[in-house]
Amino acid sequence: TSAAVSNPTLFFNGGILQGEGVEHATRRIKDLDNVFQDTKVFGKTDPETLVYEVSSFLPVAEGTPGGLYFGLTHIHPGKVGNEYFMTKGHFHALIDRAEYYWGIKGEGVLILMNENREVWAERMFPGSLHFIPGRVAHRVANTGSQLLSFGASWPADAGHNYEEIRKNGFARRLIDKNGIPTLI
Ligand code: PA5
Ligand code: NI
Repeated sequence: TSAAVSNPTLFFNGGILQGEGVEHATRRIKDLDNVFQDTKVFGKTDPETLVYEVSSFLPVAEGTPGGLYFGLTHIHPGKVGNEYFMTKGHFHALIDRAEYYWGIKGEGVLILMNENREVWAERMFPGSLHFIPGRVAHRVANTGSQLLSFGASWPADAGHNYEEIRKNGFARRLIDKNGIPTLI
């Protein structure tokens, strides 16, 4: 008897996930209200400008206890005023759920904030690995001149709470200060 060796349900193709259960999302300037500080420059930026793309593999139903999700995020290089292109950022809806991020391509900074609004940051680069504990909001900025790609894996019951960050933001912002990424 011979056991069949099957193809994987999932594969990478030029940084994009392909297979059953994969979803793609794009985030353009017009989707990122309340993210950047300089509302004047933001208002003058072409609303169709692509800021980041996410492809996610969601093999189990959202909310499944013990399930795991996988995502690939690509943040384009760019700035709004002196602030780097970045993700919206979020706490998890089930706030104690943790997550891994890891750098694949390009240069960036992972910005983290706990519930006391204390902010810290870690450099992200190809091979960097980041454990994001529960109860910590997370956002990534592309500080380089190339595409920034990173992987993520999080529990299927974590969910995303965007509202808190949308309303109150992060307590510190990452800006380009004379060419140096600086938390202010
Ligand atoms: O699950 C995650 O934390 C990531 O896959 C993010 O959703 C992704 O990087 C996009 O960021 P955000 O969800 O904050 O827009
Ligand atoms: Ni998350």
